[in-house]
Amino acid sequence: MIGKKLEDALNGQLNAELYSAYLYLSMSSYLESLNLSGFGNWMRVQFEEEQFHAMKLYDYIIERGGRVICKPIDGPETEWDGPVGAFEATLAHERNVTGLINDLVYLARDERDNAGEVFLSWYVSEQVEEKNNVETILGKLRLADGNPQALLMIDQELGTRVYMPPGTAEGGKK
Ligand code: FEO
Repeated sequence: MIGKKLEDALNGQLNAELYSAYLYLSMSSYLESLNLSGFGNWMRVQFEEEQFHAMKLYDYIIERGGRVICKPIDGPETEWDGPVGAFEATLAHERNVTGLINDLVYLARDERDNAGEVFLSWYVSEQVEEKNNVETILGKLRLADGNPQALLMIDQELGTRVYMPPGTAEGGKK
């Protein structure tokens, strides 16, 4: 059975992952409103990824004999400064999430919960991948530097992203 401290902290992370999903859905809608449907698609896939992160926690809390408590999810922002502003906000958000995951790992260690620590290692790797993906897109956006043709090319590329749950043949690749 999971300890109360880690159970509460994992519940907090479940809420944070659902907030992330809601944030990226909000970004998707914002980018669609700029007629950047490829960027909108990328964020919509990100919304699905974050729901997967949340549900993985949901299943784990139950598997360990804990109880999931569904708390209110904060409302995300609705406006950014174009695609660069949205991806800068995404990078800042993911850095914050990485900090939250690291804190969970330290807590699992303090609680001498080896199984919890192993479970959380999946999130540690996932954060590295997410940060890299966002940095790559942000790098391309900065290179494009407001050039509409280059922006549309990136939009086209991001429009090809398809959600694959991690664990399936292509899952986890973005
Ligand atoms: Fe669930 Fe984007 O980290």
